[in-house]
Amino acid sequence: MSEEGRKASVVAVGTDNSGDNGLCGVLLTLISWLLVLCTLPFSLCVCFRVVQEYERAVIFRLGRLLSGGARGPGIFFILPCIENYTKIDMRTSVFDVPPQEVLTKDSVTVSVDAVVYYRVSNATISVANVENAHHSTRLLAQTTLRNMLGTKNLHEILGDRDGISASMQNSLDSATDNWGIKVERVEVKDVRLPVQLQRAMAAEAEAAREARAKVIAAEGESKASRALKEAADVMKESPSALQLRYLQTLNSISAEKNSTIIFPLPIDFMSQFVNK
Ligand SMILES: *[C@@H]1O[C@H](CO)[C@@H](O)[C@H](O)[C@H]1NC(C)=O
Ligand SMILES: *[C@@H]1O[C@H](CO)[C@@H](O)[C@H](O)[C@H]1NC(C)=O
Ligand SMILES: *[C@@H]1O[C@H](CO)[C@@H](O)[C@H](O)[C@H]1NC(C)=O
Repeated sequence: MSEEGRKASVVAVGTDNSGDNGLCGVLLTLISWLLVLCTLPFSLCVCFRVVQEYERAVIFRLGRLLSGGARGPGIFFILPCIENYTKIDMRTSVFDVPPQEVLTKDSVTVSVDAVVYYRVSNATISVANVENAHHSTRLLAQTTLRNMLGTKNLHEILGDRDGISASMQNSLDSATDNWGIKVERVEVKDVRLPVQLQRAMAAEAEAAREARAKVIAAEGESKASRALKEAADVMKESPSALQLRYLQTLNSISAEKNSTIIFPLPIDFMSQFVNK
């Protein structure tokens, strides 16, 4: 557990019930009831309290937790003078883990921030076991993020954010279990690299792309030359193919530039030339 985690004062939740305050406690409780009964119509304003749907009230009687867990939502009963209560919000809260400078396993300094979603799962424990459950959770999230990323290489951090989020959620959740906090979700928001490293990585990526482009061009050329050779072979086998090609070329020349074309040679002459 982290240093900040240890700072939170840990008190064991007693399983004893509230009747355990001794004779004095019983006496004070009776007096309190008497007081309520004597001042009846008015005391009700003091005795009945309300919490919202998403809230719970953790009640202490003479410093001891009342048995039966947290009260609410709705109306609950408070004995004046001897009982005190704390309202706990059970809704999911979210906080930003501020950017943490982390030295990765391969000695690169990166700055990483995250978002954590959590809620109070057990109001009693979150009051009794930890001094300030929210603050403790926040500090613990920071140290967990740093510890977690310190064991990873840069490419793991860049490539496996989901994995990092999941393992961070697991370790944070198990650490906050006895604070009555449930960590629902952790998202790694942003991984910032040093500027020089960014440039180096960009140059590397560009070089890789260029190399790929060259390979593709060379492959294309080799295929083209093979096709050309095949065509030449075919033409060698049948001389009439060459003649047809010759005519075709003339045709395409005339289509492009509609000037007058004079056939330089009789085709028969060409064929004899080729046969030779
Ligand atoms: C009741 O609890 C609140 C905090 O929840 C505290 O500030 C207050 O002093 C307590 N009152 C008594 C009478 O114990
Ligand atoms: C909260 O924790 C206490 C102590 O472990 C337990 O007795 C109680 O049942 C828990 N309440 C809920 C709602 O889980
Ligand atoms: C092609 O011929 C047409 C008429 O037949 C003429 O109008 C046109 O200018 C010629 N084009 C060229 C590029 O000589």
